[in-house]
Amino acid sequence: MADKYLELVNSGYTKKVAKLLGLPRPPRLRRYEPGSALLPGPLLVLGASARAQQLSDELTSWGIDVRRHDAQGDKLGGILLLLDELTHPEQLGEVMLTAGGALRQLLPGGRLVSVSRPALAHDEPAVAAVRQGIDGAMRSLGREMRGGATANGVLLAEDTTVTSPSALGALRFFFSGRSAYVDGQFLTVRNDEGSLPADPERPLVGKVAVVTGAARGIGAAIARVLYRDGAQVVLVDMPAAGEALAAVANEVHGTTLQLDVTAADAGQRIIDHAVNRYGHLDLVVHNAGITRDKLLANMDQARWDSVIAVNIASQLRMNEAFLAADLPGLRVVSLASTSGIAGNRGQSNYAASKGGVIGMVRASAERFAESGGSIAAVAPGFIETEMTAKIPLGTRTVARLVLPSLMQGGLPQDVAEAIAFLGSDAAAGLNGQTLRVCGQSLVGA
Ligand code: NAI
Repeated sequence: MADKYLELVNSGYTKKVAKLLGLPRPPRLRRYEPGSALLPGPLLVLGASARAQQLSDELTSWGIDVRRHDAQGDKLGGILLLLDELTHPEQLGEVMLTAGGALRQLLPGGRLVSVSRPALAHDEPAVAAVRQGIDGAMRSLGREMRGGATANGVLLAEDTTVTSPSALGALRFFFSGRSAYVDGQFLTVRNDEGSLPADPERPLVGKVAVVTGAARGIGAAIARVLYRDGAQVVLVDMPAAGEALAAVANEVHGTTLQLDVTAADAGQRIIDHAVNRYGHLDLVVHNAGITRDKLLANMDQARWDSVIAVNIASQLRMNEAFLAADLPGLRVVSLASTSGIAGNRGQSNYAASKGGVIGMVRASAERFAESGGSIAAVAPGFIETEMTAKIPLGTRTVARLVLPSLMQGGLPQDVAEAIAFLGSDAAAGLNGQTLRVCGQSLVGA
């Protein structure tokens, strides 16, 4: 499943050959390792914001070397653009062009992150224009970055300030190696009851998390990352996957629950298992999913129905059980897919289910918030798993090398990192959103 091409063009003799031939060379991404620095070098902060000083103090307390306005020629680990006070497109040029000059100093794996506000229908046209313009500019910059550097943005909804827990949580995620395969994306944060973890290295300490479809692939990676971040993990999968499930559970010192998520009582069985074993349930990750690809003209009812049943109907039913139970602060994170955003040939059933997840998450946010909880989704693009290893080589190469800005497929760990972030208390203000983890694939926006 490893991307052999990436290894070849980045090591030894074959690296030289690839250079000589002018072959595309996907960069090695800066992925999170426990204890690693948040950024590979100093952070240059450009632009203005009401709480810029407070923000700088906070970032400094995270161990970041913060430079205001001038990097004095040093190499940079990141550039932060404070753009939330702009009211006209004519004001954007100065800070953007300054950032452009500094981009040459950005280290491999660096980060460009903007802070702005969402463009809304009731905004003054010029205000909405600059806000929407930032969206376009940042997505373009994502496509201009080199060496595995990325460009993402935080949108402050309504009167949310840049120092609210969820804004800080989103900034920390975008800076860190946890967001290695997230590129050209925006997260909208709202004022919230969220809180930053006492230990940012282990944000899920004391939490009990359930992961469905945890026997292999992305689900197993999610279980590993949640465990690494401090959670106690319950691993759910089909009885047929029992052996593989037990092996992952051993690794993460978790417990197993053999269960078909389409069962009518699946939600209640998950609650009973978690509460009986651990006394509470704090996070559910709806990861179990299947594909049954066919052009619609050749699709039979069994293919269509099974995909809808596993990928979305089961989640709707389980969520009803979770909402009906007394589970204060429960967070739910669901697996969508870029196919559900952009569509994909041969996947009308799968895209219906994954688009369904995005709709469900948006429409369930208020209900989960009533008991102090939240719900969000992650939409992965091309991820290197057993499922995608079966795709013919030509299609696979296009999907991993040509389509994403980062010129490679993502790893299961990349999806898991985003889920761990969205399942943490720092992400309470991101309720109802879907985050793409797709290396800024051309598939979709
Ligand atoms: P996978 O096929 O490797 O693993 C899925 C797991 O779910 C398996 O262990 C399977 O036994 C389990 N499962 C299936 N039906 C179940 C049921 N009814 N009850 C309980 N468990 C069940 O898949 P992969 O690649 O790890 O994908 C995980 C999730 O990520 C899925 O929801 C998939 O749609 C989504 N995704 C994957 C992408 C990729 O590129 N691999 C891209 C976008 C989304």
